[in-house]
Amino acid sequence: MSHHTSEGSTMSTSDSTNYVKIFDTTLRDGEQSPGISLNAQEKLEIARQLERLGVDIIEAGFAIASPGEVKGIGLVAQHVRSCTIASLNRTQQADIDASWEALKDAESPRFHIFIATSDLHMEHKLRMTPDEVLEQTRDAITYARTKVSDIEFSCEDATRSRPEFMAEVVRTALAAGATTINIPDTVGYTTPIEYMEILQTLYANVPELHEATLSVHTHNDLGLATANSLAGVQAGARQVEVAINGIGERAGNSALEEVVMALRTRKAFYGFETGVETREIARSSRLVSRLSGYPVQPNKAIVGKNAFAHEAGIHQDGVLKNRRTYEIMDAESIGLAHNELVLGKHSGRHALQAAYAELGYVVEGEDLKRAFTRFKEIADRKKNISALDLEALLDDQSRETTERFVLERLALRTATGETSQAEVSVREGETVHTATGEGDGPIDAAFKALAEIAATTATLREFNVNAVTGGQDALGDVRVVLEQDGQTFTGQAVAPDITEAAAQAYLRAASLAAAGTPNPIVRETI
Ligand code: KIV
Ligand code: ZN
Repeated sequence: MSHHTSEGSTMSTSDSTNYVKIFDTTLRDGEQSPGISLNAQEKLEIARQLERLGVDIIEAGFAIASPGEVKGIGLVAQHVRSCTIASLNRTQQADIDASWEALKDAESPRFHIFIATSDLHMEHKLRMTPDEVLEQTRDAITYARTKVSDIEFSCEDATRSRPEFMAEVVRTALAAGATTINIPDTVGYTTPIEYMEILQTLYANVPELHEATLSVHTHNDLGLATANSLAGVQAGARQVEVAINGIGERAGNSALEEVVMALRTRKAFYGFETGVETREIARSSRLVSRLSGYPVQPNKAIVGKNAFAHEAGIHQDGVLKNRRTYEIMDAESIGLAHNELVLGKHSGRHALQAAYAELGYVVEGEDLKRAFTRFKEIADRKKNISALDLEALLDDQSRETTERFVLERLALRTATGETSQAEVSVREGETVHTATGEGDGPIDAAFKALAEIAATTATLREFNVNAVTGGQDALGDVRVVLEQDGQTFTGQAVAPDITEAAAQAYLRAASLAAAGTPNPIVRETI
C-alpha cells in the first residue's frame, strides 16, 4: 500500500487507492459565513449544481440549527440522489434526531458528528473533562449507528489537540462504529508539514484507522487552507472537505476549485484523482457567489475573473505564440467556454429552452412561460443575452415565488446637490399601494418609500451591486440585507436598471421580514 510523499516518492498508509473523495461543505460551513443565509430553495439549487459537479458528499447543513434547516436538508436529500448527503451534529441525541428527520429520505445518508478535543476547547468551551468527551463520543456514535451506517466523526480543533488524547478519541469513535475520521484544522493554524506529521502520528497511534477513511478539513486564516488539504492527502487522507469559492467561517474553508484543479493539473506529481467534472467549476462558482452574495475577488485562483486574463504585453505575446507559455490550465477545463452562448431579441421560446438545456437546466411548462416573458422584457433593453445573464434570470425567477410585495412602478427624480425623490407603486396580492420618499440619492429615497409600504422598521445592513457581465448594458444584480430584532433578511434581484433591481431586492427582504422568517416557505416542486 502506498501514496506519494511531497517528494513524489511513496510511503506506507492504509488507503492505497488514488481516488480522493470530495466532501463539499458550501451549504454548511460555507453558509456559516457572516451574512449568508440560504433558504431551502437556494440550498437545493446549489446542491443540484454540486451533483452536476460530481462531488461525492454534500454536507447540506446543521439540522438542529432551525426547522428551516431541517426543511432545506430534507429537500436536498429528496432530490439529490447521486451524492451522499450529510448533516452535522454535536454529540447530542436531539441533534442526531433532527438530522435523521432531515435525512430519512436520502438515498445515501451520513451523520457527521463532532466534539472538541483540544484542552483549550474542552476546558473553556465545553467545560467537560477528557473522560466526558470520550463518553459522549461513544454514546453519540452508538446512538447514530442505530439509524445510519455511514458515520463521520470529527475532532474539533484537532490540530491543537494533544496527540495521545486525540488518538484515544479516534480509537473510541472507530470502536463505536465511525466510518470516516475527520481531523480539522478548525482555526486555520497548522502548516502543511506540521499537518502531515499530525496525521502520520495519528496513523501510528491508531493502526485501525487504516480500515476507515481519513478526512481533512482546513480553514484559511493564514492563507494555507489548500496547501494544508493537499498535505493531508499526501499523508493518507482520501476525503477532503472543501467549499466553492472557499467560503466558510472567518477566512473560509479550503476552496473546492483549488484542491481539485491542483490535483488535476499536478496529477503527475500527486498521483490522485477526484470524480469532479471540472467543466462545471465556473458555473458552480457563479451560482454560489450570486446566492451567497459573496463576490469572488478578481485575482482569486481558478475562478477569479482575471485568473485566465493576461495583462502584461510580454505575457500576451507569449500566450498568442503558445498558450502554455503562461497558462498551466485551459479556461475550457473549468467550463468558461460555455459563456460564449448568446441570445438576442429575435430568439424564440425553443431557443431559450435549448440554451437553458445546454447550460444544464431543465426549464419547462409554466416556468418556461415565465422565463420567456422575462427574457423578452430584458431582450428589449439589452442587445446580447449571455449564459451568465440566463443563469442570473433563472435564479431571479426562483425567488419570485416567495415574495409578498412586487414592484409595479418606480419613478425617481435626482440631481447633483438636491434631495432625491421617489414615487413607488407596489402590488401586495390584489392591492396596489403607492408612496413617495425623499433621501440622499435615489436609492435612499426609493427605500424610504418602500419601507412605508412594507410597514417595516427593519434597518438596512448591507447593500451590494454587481454587474452580471461586462458592458454598459449589463444586468445589475443587487443584494440587500435588512435587520430586524437581531435577525437578518436577505433579498436579491436582477434587472437591466440597478435602481429597479435595488427596489425589488429591498421588497424581497422586506417580504421575509414581514413574515418574520429568514427562511421563506419551501416550494416543494421546482
Ligand atoms: O472547522 C471545524 O472544525 C468544523 C467541524 C464541525 C468539522 O467545521
Ligand atoms: Zn470548519
